[in-house]
Amino acid sequence: MLPAHTQPPLLPLPAHPPVLPIGVRRAEMVDIEGIVHLVKVHAHRGDVLPRSLRDIEHTLNDWFVAVDQTGEVFACVSLLPYSDRYAEVRSLAVDDRVKGQGYGQAVVAQLIAIARERQIPVVFALTRAVQFFLSAGFSITDKEHYPEKVFKDCSICPLLQNCDEVAVELKLTS
Ligand SMILES: CC(C)(COP(=O)(O)OP(=O)(O)OC[C@H]1O[C@@H](n2cnc3c(N)ncnc32)[C@H](O)[C@@H]1OP(=O)(O)O)[C@@H](O)C(=O)NCCC(=O)NCCS
Repeated sequence: MLPAHTQPPLLPLPAHPPVLPIGVRRAEMVDIEGIVHLVKVHAHRGDVLPRSLRDIEHTLNDWFVAVDQTGEVFACVSLLPYSDRYAEVRSLAVDDRVKGQGYGQAVVAQLIAIARERQIPVVFALTRAVQFFLSAGFSITDKEHYPEKVFKDCSICPLLQNCDEVAVELKLTS
């Protein structure tokens, strides 16, 4: 037996089965169930707004996901256009098992690439994950720059007067 100081350290047992390598792509029909689940979990925590199955189905072309080799959805985000002038980064959620491993940035990078392709001038978000968006190149702005969003969601939110979300935006064209 080795003396105690030369013993190899004990490795902690993983709490979940290991996650297989993950790729990022546009969402497909097969992803809907996984998206619904991720959004539901994060909406329950108050991190994102709820989205119905029907809404997700109808907007599927504007969703991006990170999936593992078995097809399980580990991250999602959607692009919600308001007008020719701007679109919202909406329903961004990463499974707890892979948080902090770059998947949030990866799905947002896909969304930004498609927003550029579609020549959307600005993408914005209302968020508490401000540092995450600053890391992705966004800057802090005033939510009053996005009146359609404020009218649609904020005006019916019980936290309206005590809102702790910060508006962030990324300009994609000069
Ligand atoms: C916010 C969230 C999407 C980030 O996804 P993630 O995959 O964990 O993040 P990444 O690993 O891609 O992190 C990239 C960067 O953001 C930072 N970051 C990650 N999560 C953060 C958080 N919740 N708050 C602040 N910063 C965060 C990381 O430190 C990292 O910074 P760096 O690149 O400068 O080192 C994820 O934590 C999540 O699902 N949160 C709950 C839902 C939510 O708040 N959604 C946003 C609604 S607008």
